[in-house]
Parts: sequence; C-alpha cells; structure tokens
Amino acid sequence: YPLKALNTFGIEAYAAYFAVVRDVPTLQELLRDETLRNLPLLILGGGSNLLFTQEVFEGLVLKMEIGGITEVKQDEEHVWLKAGAGERWHEVVMRTIELGLSGIENLSLIPGTVGAAPMQNIGAYGVEIKEVFESLEAVRIADGSLHQFDAEACRFGYRESIFKNEAKGQYIITSVTMRLNRQPVYNVSYGAIKDTLSEMGVDALSVRAVSEAVIQIRQSKLPDPVQIGNAGSFFKNPEIDEADFLRLQQQYPQVPHYPTTPGRVKVPAGWLIDQCGWKGRRLGNVGVHDKQALVLVNLGGAKGSEVKALAEQIQQSVQERFGIALTPEVNFI
Ligand code: EPU
Repeated sequence: YPLKALNTFGIEAYAAYFAVVRDVPTLQELLRDETLRNLPLLILGGGSNLLFTQEVFEGLVLKMEIGGITEVKQDEEHVWLKAGAGERWHEVVMRTIELGLSGIENLSLIPGTVGAAPMQNIGAYGVEIKEVFESLEAVRIADGSLHQFDAEACRFGYRESIFKNEAKGQYIITSVTMRLNRQPVYNVSYGAIKDTLSEMGVDALSVRAVSEAVIQIRQSKLPDPVQIGNAGSFFKNPEIDEADFLRLQQQYPQVPHYPTTPGRVKVPAGWLIDQCGWKGRRLGNVGVHDKQALVLVNLGGAKGSEVKALAEQIQQSVQERFGIALTPEVNFI
C-alpha cells in the first residue's frame, strides 16, 4: 500500500499490510487477529513526525481515523473536550476558538493528529499540550484492552512522554481529553508573538488574535508540507550544562537560549545548525530550509536514506564545531 501521501516528508514508501481504523472495537479486533498480531506494527496519524528510511515497511500500518470532538464536562471555569485520535490537531484548535475557549491557541497550525499530540507532548510558542491535558484513552497492543492515563501517568517532558520511553510500542492512543479555560489565559511571553500582534495592529488581545499571530509566524518560518516535504523540527533543542553554556556564550555572546532545569540550559538546534552554515543548503534531493535551519526538506523525489544521510552530516558538523550532540525529534521507521 503506498504511503507517500501519508507522510508529510513525501517519501515514497510502501506498507506490506494496511488498514484504516475508525473505531475502538475494530482496532481491538485487529490487534487480536492471530495472523496480524505477529507482524511489526506502525501506527500512523498525520505522518508529520516520521521518516521512512526503507522503501517497504514489512508489517501492518494502521492509519488512525477515529473521529469526534465532544464536550464531556464543564464547570464555571473550564470545559473538557474529548477528541478522537484521528482528528486533525489544527481542526480541534479551531473548534476551541469557535467555542471561545482558551488553552491551545498557541498550538495553532501544528501538523498531525490528536493521537500523536501527547506522544511527544507537542509544544510551541510557550505552551505545551501537557498544560491543558486531562487524560487519554489507549488500547494495549498486547491484548487489545482499553486503558486510561492521566497527566501524571503520561510522564510528560520536553517532546517526551511515557509513550516514547517505558511504554514505547505498547499502546495506541485512541482519544485525548483536554481541560480548556472559559476565561482566556494568554501566553504571549514569546517575543515573536508580541511583535506579530503589534504588526497586526491588535491592541485588545483575543484568543483568535493570538491564534492568527501564531499562524503568521509559522507560515513565515516553516515550509508548508503540501508544497515542500518536511516533518517540522528535525532535531530536539539540546540541553547542555550551564558551565558549557557559559563557555559557548563567551565565544558567541548572542547565542539564544532558554531556561530549563537548574544547572542546565537549552540551546536552539536551529541556531547551532545555522552557525555551521547549513541554512538553505542543498544536497541532491534534500536540503535545509532557508528560513529555519532546524527543518530538513525533501526538494522532490528524495529517499528517506538521503534525508538520514543529511541529518548525520549535520549532527557531525554540530558535534565538531560545538561539541554538542543533536538528537532527532523525528521518528525513524
Ligand atoms: N535560529 C537561528 N537560525 C535558524 C533557526 C533558529 O538563528 O535557522 C534562532 C532564532 O533566531 C531564535 C532561536 O534560534 O533565536 C529559536 O528559533 P525558533 O523561535 O524558530 O524556535 P526553535 O527553538 O528553533 C522550537 C520548536 C518548534 C516551535 C518553536 C516555537 C523544538 C525542537 N522546536 O523551535 O517546534 O514551533 O520552538 O515555539 O523544540 C516542531 O516541533 O516541529 C516545531 C516546529
């Protein structure tokens, strides 16, 4: 089954077996099937955070299309919305804005589906999904049983959760419930949001205005996967020891950085890659985006192995120049 249209990198790849999942009972049935249960399994949401490095996935690909956005609870301050794993994340954000709810407007335009969002604790412009996360439902692959996870059980971290670590490959997320605010709680600490809002001539903040500002920023920096294949940030922003950071800052006084746990500093991978001269460079069918060096792009007809080779070259130059190891954020399949 062709997967090219199902991964935002636009890499040509094929699945030996393929099924679309629209409800939990069907998923449970598939997982209990004697023939299918021994095959390697790949769960596909929007395909926006993965790289096929081989032409054929010799297993079963399940495309998650469980839909539905429903209000499950409310009180004076909050409304709880439950969304099916297959819903497009951005559609859910747009729905919350129509409903006048606040909490995920900073996460506008993030590609991918609801089910993938908690896996890597999606985050942008000062907000992470963990801040509005209430719970999720997931099916255990081993026996098809349905489980609930609260925020603590998910062990969220920067682009991390239990589903990328201890529980990796063990569960399939089927729905996510979020706790949204009736009264807006704005997070405009991120400099670019403030600048964009004032460029837009917004003086009274609104959830919609913040969303529109985020959309403008993303559109100006990040390539649209429909036009240029990519998977957003290819690497995570590395966290380094404060002592190492201070040495780096002596040499490069303008180095951008974010606070993180005490004694550690997060440095933007995009800046490190940019300093190594990679921004806008092309290597055959692949390249580094000219407006954000953290994004690797498929310039047409690229193979996954070519993207991987470029990523390795970038890792090597950042290692040689700065002594910093970059970890991919994208999942290699
Ligand atoms: N920078 C450069 N050159 C570049 C790219 C960035 O000098 O080519 C500098 C920028 O000038 C800025 C700093 O690096 O001072 C940070 O750049 P940016 O604001 O674009 O954010 P980022 O740290 O590179 C992260 C997320 C993005 C998210 C943005 C906004 C990660 C791995 N990436 O990027 O997430 O949209 O912050 O919050 O944490 C994604 O995960 O796919 C993604 C796009």
